[in-house]
Amino acid sequence: MENLIELKDVTKVYKQGGIEQYALNGVSLKIKKGEIIVILGPSGSGKTTLLNVISGLDHASAGHIYYEGKDIRKYSDRKMTHFRKKNLGFIFQTYNLLEHLNVYENVLVGSSLGGDKAAVDAIIDTVGLTKHRRKSMYQLSGGEQQRVSIARALAKNPKVMFGDEPTGALDEKTGKVVLESLVEANEKFGTTMLIITHNPGIAEIGDHVVVMNSGKIINEYENTTRTNPLDIPWG
Ligand SMILES: Nc1ncnc2c1ncn2[C@@H]1O[C@H](COP(=O)(O)OP(=O)(O)O)[C@@H](O)[C@H]1O
Ligand SMILES: [Mg+2]
Repeated sequence: MENLIELKDVTKVYKQGGIEQYALNGVSLKIKKGEIIVILGPSGSGKTTLLNVISGLDHASAGHIYYEGKDIRKYSDRKMTHFRKKNLGFIFQTYNLLEHLNVYENVLVGSSLGGDKAAVDAIIDTVGLTKHRRKSMYQLSGGEQQRVSIARALAKNPKVMFGDEPTGALDEKTGKVVLESLVEANEKFGTTMLIITHNPGIAEIGDHVVVMNSGKIINEYENTTRTNPLDIPWG
């Protein structure tokens, strides 16, 4: 598989009261097209900062971030915003859905599918919500809402999907079903996925695991066989 993203010596420094703090301290990383990469580490280790600089939500202080060979740190804010809208999907711990819209309408918002009803339905089916497609968000459980947000992110056919603690607000049973939807989407659409978690069990669903501490990668390995999310240890 070819590399989709490459980071070289990426640093992020925060200055607070004259003191410099390295949220990222020389991170180098290669992400292959189509892989599920899991970023693991305790709270404060730099995971969210890493996601933010890879996705251009925040500026790195130094280093290079290449997408298919192009350094996005050279992009203007405007160009980066356009790039992000077109190519990157996001899911967060909170769902950020439109309460008064139903599943189908939430997925359609911001999608690149236009009026392609069959494509929207295929995505809703992938996350297992076909029978709920006319329900509004307040009629759905937390896990179901998170699957709507996965479907919404998929609907623009992103090059990469970023999940920052996507199961952080969910119990084990529901969280595993959400992870199952992510894996299914990866298998069906080939979407590259970067998932952040502090839950070590989740590492087993991925192809590539990166362990962080104090802004550095302290371990990195490949999983030759993915474990089905329903069978992983939790926590
Ligand atoms: N906007 C900010 N200003 C100052 N320090 C920050 C900011 N964002 C994150 N940090 C610091 O950077 C470190 C890494 O944070 P973060 O990336 O959020 O870690 P994680 O997601 O692994 O919990 C922490 O020490 C945090 O306090
Ligand atoms: Mg975080």
